[in-house]
Amino acid sequence: MMPAAVPIATNEMTDHLEKVLLHETTILSRLDEMAAEITRDFAGKEFTVIAILHGSLIFMADLLRRVHLPLKIESVSIASYHGATESSGLVTFNQLHLPEVKGEHVLILDDILDSGRTLEAITKKLEEECRPASIKVCVLLDKRASRVTDIEADFVGFKIEDEFVVGYGLDYRGHYRNLPLIGTLRREYIE
Ligand code: IMP
Ligand code: MG
Repeated sequence: MMPAAVPIATNEMTDHLEKVLLHETTILSRLDEMAAEITRDFAGKEFTVIAILHGSLIFMADLLRRVHLPLKIESVSIASYHGATESSGLVTFNQLHLPEVKGEHVLILDDILDSGRTLEAITKKLEEECRPASIKVCVLLDKRASRVTDIEADFVGFKIEDEFVVGYGLDYRGHYRNLPLIGTLRREYIE
């Protein structure tokens, strides 16, 4: 993939990486463009952002500070990987109550669109149980090759190959979310 354009600080986490796919500077300049798109799209509309936890936390914080519109932030906690490096096919909602968004425009944020099961499940559940005025989807990464649903994102940061990545919110068994860049793990660190 992309060679390391700038040197990265050597620490325990970066030592675990096989390769760097996206440097922080690359991610942040793409976020400028995505925020501009979202700002154009939602101008004049009040809207609520629903962040899918925990993967979208870092992405959300950096993206939404670039969107200069009034908005509200909500979150839902959903799991679908269950500690593996491939989607389990089982989408679990870790909370009983969904945000109150009846009649509101909603923008769902997630770190990555992979099989699409997570975003399909949350979109359906919101439509059925919360009746928002509209739903759009924004993801930082799109792993198109592993899609098993029809779901498409309205805003996409980067299209990537079908490989397991960590960093910038994405985890392996809860770790690596605070890496400021996105990369793949060396084989010996994946069980
Ligand atoms: P989907 O339901 O298969 O589309 O999976 C979406 C969720 O799986 C994302 O919200 C991520 O939490 C997780 N996921 C998918 N691909 C990766 C990856 O390459 N690294 C880390 N987590 C991933
Ligand atoms: Mg996730």
